[in-house]
Amino acid sequence: MAPECSRRDAPPSATLLIVCVALYTVVLAVASSPKALASSSALSSRARAAPEQQLLLSADLTTEESARRPGETRRPPSVEQELDVARAAIRRTAQRHGDAGRAGDGNVSSANTWFDAGVEYALLASVYRNPAAFHRSYAEMEKLFRVYVYEEGEPPILHAGPCKNIYTIEGRFIEQLELMAPSPASSSRRGTRRRSASDVRTSEPARAHAFFLPFSVSQMVQFAYRPNTYDKTPLRAIVADYVRVVASRHPYWNRSAGADHFMLACHDWGPEASTGHPELHANGIRALCNANSSEGFRPWQDVSVPDINLYDGDMPRQLLAPAPGVTSRPFLAFFAGGRHGHIRDLLLRHWKGRDPDFFPVYEHRHEDGFDYYSFMRRARFCLCPSGYQVASPRVVESIHAECVPVILSDGYVLPFADVLRWEAFSVAVPVADIPRLREVLERIPAPEVEKLQQGVRLVKRHFMLNQPPQRLDMFNMILHSVWLRRLNLRLDH
Ligand SMILES: *[C@@H]1O[C@H](CO)[C@@H](O)[C@H](O)[C@H]1NC(C)=O
Ligand SMILES: *[C@@H]1O[C@H](CO)[C@@H](O)[C@H](O)[C@H]1NC(C)=O
Ligand SMILES: *[C@@H]1O[C@H](CO)[C@@H](O)[C@H](O)[C@H]1NC(C)=O
Repeated sequence: MAPECSRRDAPPSATLLIVCVALYTVVLAVASSPKALASSSALSSRARAAPEQQLLLSADLTTEESARRPGETRRPPSVEQELDVARAAIRRTAQRHGDAGRAGDGNVSSANTWFDAGVEYALLASVYRNPAAFHRSYAEMEKLFRVYVYEEGEPPILHAGPCKNIYTIEGRFIEQLELMAPSPASSSRRGTRRRSASDVRTSEPARAHAFFLPFSVSQMVQFAYRPNTYDKTPLRAIVADYVRVVASRHPYWNRSAGADHFMLACHDWGPEASTGHPELHANGIRALCNANSSEGFRPWQDVSVPDINLYDGDMPRQLLAPAPGVTSRPFLAFFAGGRHGHIRDLLLRHWKGRDPDFFPVYEHRHEDGFDYYSFMRRARFCLCPSGYQVASPRVVESIHAECVPVILSDGYVLPFADVLRWEAFSVAVPVADIPRLREVLERIPAPEVEKLQQGVRLVKRHFMLNQPPQRLDMFNMILHSVWLRRLNLRLDH
């Protein structure tokens, strides 16, 4: 699949539009066309012809549960056995960590420099719910986790997504996963090659722990929705058709009724689109930016995905430079944005223009010469109110600017809260307290603000979008959230 985001300067072609208008027919035609069926059997013969890879993977299982008695036939463990082994290993580490914590031993574990990066244990323990369990879980994911991406369907609605602006993560996630086509040459270098994080995508669905439905809700809205109708029927129909197609052509959907399948959507209508197929909605793992717990987002089944706004598709350079410490930031707090929704309205009614030298709050952010990011880098706190949907790209922008995010929302389930303690690097202020916001923030003692900023600096790596993805970055943290849902394991104790 051609990398869409790498071609982000190309204008959308008119033929794309024509293709999409008849999307349901496209999807259905793909399902029944002889060419597509031929490529599907090519896929399964590829799966049969990769014994070296299976050996390599089973040899990778070094934990004691996989040790066998001499003479016992060595068969690759089943996907469920692999998950059992990983679950047991993570539980043991979590338990040991719990004991060690009570005994006052300050070590997470040995030789985990890629994780603790020389950071003091006290900081790790404040930022992560259980640093050792997270580290172990992440390492198990790198060792084992395999995701199968369905190949059915055509861009722009399948296998592509926006690469710029507010829904960037849809396009980037699909592209980064699809660019990870495992190369047959490297997997047959038997026994010697260490699995790397980029081996997460597998061409063998029979060996996959999770299945990705590569549709983009933003692209559906752009190409299949009739503007101003607010009619979401086309979105639901596309989702329903896609699930029907993959469920009829592969055994995996029916096997689990969708429970080991996941989708990802950043568009506000992602949750709505997921209702298109009742099993996807009930059993599937929905990775959503619009993680509103009042609208049926289920924190332990679904995945909250950070909203990241890349205006031109790249990480803003101003935010990548090292940022000032809290003592050299003149502003207490900063906000600039539109009057979208009741929380923003409340915020602007109380604070707009009140004290621009200390508590700058502006309506709009796109005026000429307005240097949004430099305000963020000069404020101790950055206000992140919900807009028309609960998530705000300001959360990630604040973290990049090393400004402590102030979460102003009702029912926003924060990203990666399965492993991160948000209270260690952000402040949540109830919407009802917006009228006293300045007082609430001023009351936080200076050493506490410094600690919060240290936390922000530590978690920054989890909110970076790299190409190619890097260990512990946003792409891999989203995958880790999916991995935890698939293990059905909580790391919060
Ligand atoms: C933590 O582990 C390191 C390396 O294994 C060791 O040198 C250090 O003494 C340990 N610290 C504590 C508090 O146990
Ligand atoms: C899965 O179930 C659906 C609905 O019962 C059925 O139409 C489809 O053929 C099944 N898929 C397979 C691969 O058997
Ligand atoms: C979250 O969901 C509730 C219930 O539907 C809704 O009233 C609220 O406005 C939503 N929040 C946002 C910011 O969309």
